[in-house]
Amino acid sequence: MNQKLNINNKHYKKADDLESLNMFKGQLYETIVTTQSNEHVKNAAPIGVICKDSNHVVIHLDNCVHTHLNIMENGELIVNITNNPLIFTYSTLGELEDEYFDEFNGFPMIKDSLGFFKAHVIKTIEKKRENDYNDGIGNVVTCEVEDIYISDNNEIVPLNRAMNAVIESLVYYCRFDHKYKDKQDMIWTHMKELNRVCQKVGNESEKESMKLILDKMRETYEYLD
Ligand SMILES: Cc1cc2nc3c(=O)[nH]c(=O)nc-3n(C[C@H](O)[C@H](O)[C@H](O)COP(=O)(O)O)c2cc1C
Repeated sequence: MNQKLNINNKHYKKADDLESLNMFKGQLYETIVTTQSNEHVKNAAPIGVICKDSNHVVIHLDNCVHTHLNIMENGELIVNITNNPLIFTYSTLGELEDEYFDEFNGFPMIKDSLGFFKAHVIKTIEKKRENDYNDGIGNVVTCEVEDIYISDNNEIVPLNRAMNAVIESLVYYCRFDHKYKDKQDMIWTHMKELNRVCQKVGNESEKESMKLILDKMRETYEYLD
């Protein structure tokens, strides 16, 4: 069935499986997960999503606060596929503002997502992981995929190093104080190199994202050069 959906003038078509989003079994993809509290306070955060099969994903919640709480509270989420570096950056360094959100059946999603799917939790396991947030207490959550939608606008994106540099830098930022606590000098040197690459080969959003990340690092850790 070829169901169509129009959100914010962007056209989406319904799909049956994760392969339609180019998401394949066993692989982990960097996405933006949107959730809401029972009081309808919305939230967005970058989360790695592992494809278990065509209609199930697994996520590890151990390094986030609101996403973790919301998912434990009501078990609902939307996984958004986007290549917008500023959405990754804003939602990591702070809270994503309202203007970046849209709604799918009353649930928050990211405006202009290239594709997205709604999912609900079917299994939760407590897992202790070394070097993680919250004293290493996390949850491994299996979700069943419900509605999948793909944007009609399939752009060709040639390889470029800048987006990877932004994503790596954001992950370093999130783990600087725990997983990388003993290697902060090395990680900071690497982040500055990623910034150099990004400023050379990136677009304006990627360059702006890297600038925001490095500024935030210098503000948070005053001893950094
Ligand atoms: C690329 C990327 C992937 C991430 N993946 C995860 C993840 O899989 N699980 C997790 O708990 N945190 C992950 N994080 C960290 C959270 O996104 C980050 O701590 C965020 O600020 C949490 O927001 P929240 O407290 O509003 O949920 C990731 C961060 C980045 C930049």
